[in-house]
Amino acid sequence: MAAIIELDSISKHYGPVVGVNHVDLAVEDGEFLTLLGPSGCGKSTLLRMVGGFEVPSAGTIRIAGVDVTAAPPQQRDVNMMFQDYALFPHMTVGKNITYGLERKGIKGTAARDKAEAALELVGLSGMFERHTHQLSGGQRQRVALARAVVREPKVILLDEPLSALDAKLREQMQVELKHMHEKLGITFLMVTHDQTEALVMSDRVVVMEAGEIAQDGTPEDLYERPATPYVANFIGTTNFLSARVVARGAGLVTLEAGNQELKATDVATSDGQAIGQIGIRPEKMQILKDTECRPVNVLPGTVVETIYQGLALRTVVRLSSGEEMLVDEILRQGMLHSDHPRAGDPVVLGVEPHNILLFGAER
Ligand SMILES: Nc1ncnc2c1ncn2[C@@H]1O[C@H](COP(=O)(O)OP(=O)(O)OP(=O)(O)O)[C@@H](O)[C@H]1O
Ligand SMILES: [Mg+2]
Repeated sequence: MAAIIELDSISKHYGPVVGVNHVDLAVEDGEFLTLLGPSGCGKSTLLRMVGGFEVPSAGTIRIAGVDVTAAPPQQRDVNMMFQDYALFPHMTVGKNITYGLERKGIKGTAARDKAEAALELVGLSGMFERHTHQLSGGQRQRVALARAVVREPKVILLDEPLSALDAKLREQMQVELKHMHEKLGITFLMVTHDQTEALVMSDRVVVMEAGEIAQDGTPEDLYERPATPYVANFIGTTNFLSARVVARGAGLVTLEAGNQELKATDVATSDGQAIGQIGIRPEKMQILKDTECRPVNVLPGTVVETIYQGLALRTVVRLSSGEEMLVDEILRQGMLHSDHPRAGDPVVLGVEPHNILLFGAER
């Protein structure tokens, strides 16, 4: 696959504020790539530079091999849906969508057919004649989405495209947008601060931290093998324990953590950094029952509280080291919340070596 978007050491400074700092990124043709990170980390700034709505302070942007660093938006084969998705308020839904087509020379019934198809794609069939002020926020957002896809550009840039939708509709649209991407076969570059959304929708996710790329990989890479505590903490939930290496060899590292000796599958950290802490996902641990055979690693502790979440039960356990661990267990059929250990009960947690993430010393 060839790269459709290439960013070469792109930076954006606003006076003393660093929005984006030396970002290198290649987006493959047809890929669904998501920029993920907390508020203010530079996601929108980066997207706006790709769209041509912001000029980089330094670096080069190429789209389909052409240097567009200084080119205005209309000279780029991209369509952008903004975070605030401004629709034209005095126009109907249909007009909002066909506007861009008319500028491209597609008019009359051809334009209307394309707009109707785009509306169907976002679940708003029959809304063509509606006025935009008669729509809910979520419907407006979907019109903006239809407007972004209708011209079928090479690249669609989406800044928080689902943020105005309620949880249920959002979940539905995540899947629909993903299907839309598969159907259209064009490149999607999306921005979100919602980690679940990024995991569900994307081929590849770029996690940003303070204007820079923290990690870049498939959803599974990022979740299963987060490179830093920042990524492990931002994507999913992670329990961190400070750790000291006791021995290393034969693919295993023996650590002292949580007042216990634990064995972890060794992975050479890329920079050869010494291990200073470990991470364990709440769902990769279990509360052992007496009858169960013991896993390689055990961590004794005391239940602080249990939190009923419907699908799962979260148990907060304090280890003898004083560190607290969250343990999530799916409540399967026959497993009753009331049978579970309660606050004050002693418990033993089990974790397998391959479920222990190794990190450098705490910052
Ligand atoms: N026009 C501007 N002038 C000055 N500073 C700006 C401007 N636009 C963005 N910034 C700053 O650049 C940084 C990155 O902003 P950006 O909008 O890219 O963040 P974001 O990751 O999209 O955040 P959010 O999730 O809140 O939308 C922030 O510190 C922001 O305050
Ligand atoms: Mg933003």
